[in-house]
Amino acid sequence: MRPDETDVTVKLLSESFVESMKLPDWYLPLVSYLVKQYLFERRAAIPHAVTLLGFVKWKDGGGGEGELAGTVEICFNKRGANDSPPTPTPPKDSPYICNMTVNKPLRRRGIGWNLLKASEELISQMSCVREVYLHCRMVDSAPFNMYTRAGYNVVKTDSILVLLLLQSRKHLMLKKLPVPTNDLELEMSGSDPEHVQVGA
Ligand SMILES: CC(C)(COP(=O)(O)OP(=O)(O)OC[C@H]1O[C@@H](n2cnc3c(N)ncnc32)[C@H](O)[C@@H]1OP(=O)(O)O)[C@@H](O)C(=O)NCCC(=O)NCCS
Repeated sequence: MRPDETDVTVKLLSESFVESMKLPDWYLPLVSYLVKQYLFERRAAIPHAVTLLGFVKWKDGGGGEGELAGTVEICFNKRGANDSPPTPTPPKDSPYICNMTVNKPLRRRGIGWNLLKASEELISQMSCVREVYLHCRMVDSAPFNMYTRAGYNVVKTDSILVLLLLQSRKHLMLKKLPVPTNDLELEMSGSDPEHVQVGA
């Protein structure tokens, strides 16, 4: 994410948070404000953490430079780790994937899958640690299916007591990446993969 791409990323992430937390739309300005602060703070962690954006270009050439389709954040190491990660707490030294979302009208076209594969490719280039962690809420079947299909396994689950903190229970999931090759080609999947470009 370049600085001039911050506002569109804030919009995408904020709408996704409002949707997944089932908040009324009037929360959007507050959520956007907080997300913007968060993204500014996270810029200080570059290159130990980065935000990737995925763009779609349509076959008819519409959309000019491409339409923002999805985003994901990657922390490569301890210096890129969040100060207060969600529970169950992942190891700070290991690569960690978070804040993935795809624009609602563009879901189920392979964009989330490609963002995940791009994240793993980049982690393979940037880190010698092969264990990648991420969180998934127990109620979220779409990402859970995607992560399971991609080879992530649940290693820990929040205690039921987190419900007392009005939080949703989450799984901590782990994938051991294969030893990297020099092939930077992204594995393409989904119904319309030729339109997907992913760039940091
Ligand atoms: C999770 C999310 C990023 C997936 O993005 P996407 O572009 O729609 O996913 P893809 O089209 O690449 O799907 C990849 C796989 O995920 C699973 N999947 C995706 N959406 C699904 C759904 N609605 N129901 C069940 N499985 C689903 C499927 O296994 C799918 O493979 P298939 O299409 O071959 O069956 C998207 O649903 C999203 O943004 N959700 C809201 C935010 C969120 O939950 N983020 C994850 C935080 S942990």
